[in-house]
Amino acid sequence: MNYTLEVRNLINNKNLKYIIYTMGCSLNENDSEKISGMLEEMGFSKTDELEDADFVIFNTCCVRENAEERLFGKIGEIKKLKETKDLIIAIGGCMMQEKEMLDKIKKSYKYVDIVFGTHTMQDLPEDVYKVLTKKEKVTDVIDIDGEIIEGLPIRRNDKYRAQVTIMYGCNNFCTYCIVPYVRGRERSRDPEDILKEIKDLANNGYKEVMLLGQNVNSYAKDGFKYCKEKPKSDIDSFAKLLRAVNDIDGIEKIRFISPHPKDFSQDVIEAIRDCKKVSKLVHLPLQAGNSKVLKEMNRNYTKEQYLELVQKMKDMIPNVAFSTDIIVGFPGETDEEFEDTLDVVRKVGYDQIFMFIYSKRNGTVAAKREDQVPEEIKHKRFDKLKELFDSSVDEINKKYIGTIQEILVEGYSKNNKDMYTGRTDSNKVVVFKPNNKIKEGDIVNIKILKDHKWYLEGEIY
Ligand code: 5AD
Ligand code: SF4
Repeated sequence: MNYTLEVRNLINNKNLKYIIYTMGCSLNENDSEKISGMLEEMGFSKTDELEDADFVIFNTCCVRENAEERLFGKIGEIKKLKETKDLIIAIGGCMMQEKEMLDKIKKSYKYVDIVFGTHTMQDLPEDVYKVLTKKEKVTDVIDIDGEIIEGLPIRRNDKYRAQVTIMYGCNNFCTYCIVPYVRGRERSRDPEDILKEIKDLANNGYKEVMLLGQNVNSYAKDGFKYCKEKPKSDIDSFAKLLRAVNDIDGIEKIRFISPHPKDFSQDVIEAIRDCKKVSKLVHLPLQAGNSKVLKEMNRNYTKEQYLELVQKMKDMIPNVAFSTDIIVGFPGETDEEFEDTLDVVRKVGYDQIFMFIYSKRNGTVAAKREDQVPEEIKHKRFDKLKELFDSSVDEINKKYIGTIQEILVEGYSKNNKDMYTGRTDSNKVVVFKPNNKIKEGDIVNIKILKDHKWYLEGEIY
């Protein structure tokens, strides 16, 4: 049965609207774009106003605890709305792959109509059909690794920059992280499917792609065993994939997140160096700077090896810059060990740091440890790291003054409607006055004139 069509017929002419709350990372955002695509094929249209919605979807995350608080706060609000009108509520995503959370929703949130997991997103049309016809609750969660599903419709959030998932899951089992439990094993997409998706994007005017995966430089290492058929392409590594994407006409900028330092092989460094379109801002998650903590995190590199890798890239790739993820307050981390994190931050000179306070995730190895760091100390370390980074931002931003930066015009700035905005290769936001020769989606040269804390200001060059 074609459930999309069935739903379409059922809701025909009713002008039903959906709202989607995405609570997680870029991979989640990309999943939400596919959920939106499916809903629009079923005949729902998008709204950003909760009051107008007939269908509310939560795409959840479980990497850190605060996502749960946000979810339950929002569901409570929606319960009140459901009392006043016909409303379908669906919750999907990573959090629903956790047994405890799934049980909690089923037991205490009975007004939720559909629960789906990360491996069953593609069944949404069937789930919606069941709710509409049989008025029954649907739970559609499996915890085996899903086969890769290609060809889902997609409604993208952006017109010029697109996210493309190249692989699903993670095999690393960092001891703090829940992702391998909820997203399953690494599953690489067929390179031909990826390249076709990107060529289609280029044909539709997209200029920038962000390649996504939990561990992109493990791409292809699973031997493509989760693909429907064995790929015909000879692309069998992340480096080769980068080079192939670089050859696609129309695409001007290529970014990727996240690589793992332990898998950052020479061929990937060479591909970044050689491929003109590949951003020279490399996201290189550090997590912690102390070798003992890194060992306990199961990261498979030491402080010295990380710094050597950074140095190698600085030597090999002109204008390379780095961004990173850092967790403070991993169980057992002492003040001295935390100093190593600050030391690495000083030595690398990151352009951007995503900072996280360690959050205990049930089921992970680190959650079982008894030497959890007190909240107060974790917050102190977070503030210290933030202070160090903030003080270096001015210095980094000043280096841009007088330089010419190639920028994709994304449109008018949200904060200043008279100014256009875009990003440097190193992902810094730039604002500048438009003129009538340039339009959204163009690539323009901008001379940087002034630095602000979180953005740069320039003029068309
Ligand atoms: N607590 C805090 N931060 C975490 N991350 C992953 N798991 C946890 C956790 N339990 C961070 C890591 C990862 C980023 C996506 O989220 O830094 O790189
Ligand atoms: Fe989590 Fe580590 Fe996998 Fe990243 S590499 S998703 S931090 S287990």
